[in-house]
Amino acid sequence: MTPAIAVEGLSKTFRPPFRLKKVRAVRSVSFTVTPGEVFGFLGPNGAGKTTTIKVLTGLIRPTAGRVAVLGGPPTSIEVKARVGFLPEQPYFYDYLKPTELLDIFGRLFGMDRSTRHRRIHELLDLVGLAHAKDRTLRKFSKGMLQRVGLAQALLNDPDLLILDEPLSGLDPIGRKEVADLIASLKAGGKTIFFSSHILADIERLCDRVVILDRGEMKAEGRLDDLLAGGRWEKEAVVRARPGGAPPRVETWPEGTRVEEIDPATWRVVTPGEAFGPVLQRLVEAGFEVVGAGDRRLSLEALIMGLTREASGAREVAR
Ligand SMILES: Nc1ncnc2c1ncn2[C@@H]1O[C@H](COP(=O)(O)OP(=O)(O)OP(=O)(O)O)[C@@H](O)[C@H]1O
Ligand SMILES: [Mg+2]
Repeated sequence: MTPAIAVEGLSKTFRPPFRLKKVRAVRSVSFTVTPGEVFGFLGPNGAGKTTTIKVLTGLIRPTAGRVAVLGGPPTSIEVKARVGFLPEQPYFYDYLKPTELLDIFGRLFGMDRSTRHRRIHELLDLVGLAHAKDRTLRKFSKGMLQRVGLAQALLNDPDLLILDEPLSGLDPIGRKEVADLIASLKAGGKTIFFSSHILADIERLCDRVVILDRGEMKAEGRLDDLLAGGRWEKEAVVRARPGGAPPRVETWPEGTRVEEIDPATWRVVTPGEAFGPVLQRLVEAGFEVVGAGDRRLSLEALIMGLTREASGAREVAR
């Protein structure tokens, strides 16, 4: 099966005018996106996400490396006809109504009048903008503009969607709606590649992720595997007798700690190998154990561990 996206050894170096140093925005990045999957491209500000996406959409050329989108070069017309793209900051002529804007894009795609009419109304329904189709875009909120951008990206019924930060700038309800939309597009058979530095929805949406930091790949794989690959810890949820104090774990196996859930309930976290002895001590100390299980590393903790705190590409002397 031809990969939806194949990137091998991609590097992009910018030479900003009037500056002595060049910026290595992306360095030796390689990954493959399989048709039908939702692929998350994660990393802090300045990681190189937008730069990579610009290469994938044929807007800029790589300094080094090979890139194939739907089996062809990203600059080819045949490839572009099958790709939908939501830029990081979509800019639209804002005296238009969404129907008028989408109509212009539909003409660019060579769609006939009745197809345009049908498709535009379908899409405005799909992205939840049917109620606003007669308002001009200058009266649209950021979240509404994001949806217009998504409708535009879907106009040509693309096989592959490339979305640069589709969830940023939205309130929690808007994020949930756009995330649901992405999930339904996946269910409809589309391949979706999207970048984000908002972590909350990624766990739910993505089959696989790449984590990028300062232009370098830090991890790639199934999110479950990446999260399970972290520290192995277990946790027990315990309750005290009425008026009881929290567990005193200072002298217990190293790494054991207590988090309060409510004034009579605590979560006791231990290294995996210390779990048995700690459970026994909790029972001996009179605590009721109401739950126990593996403690998963959070995506935030994973990314914090993999990437450095500061952001921005490293500059190198010429
Ligand atoms: N045209 C350019 N000229 C010079 N430097 C650039 C250019 N475009 C991007 N960069 C630099 O490349 C690095 C990566 O930028 P990029 O926009 O790809 O990051 P990003 O991961 O999309 O970040 P964000 O989360 O802020 O959108 C940054 O240091 C940026 O300043
Ligand atoms: Mg960006």
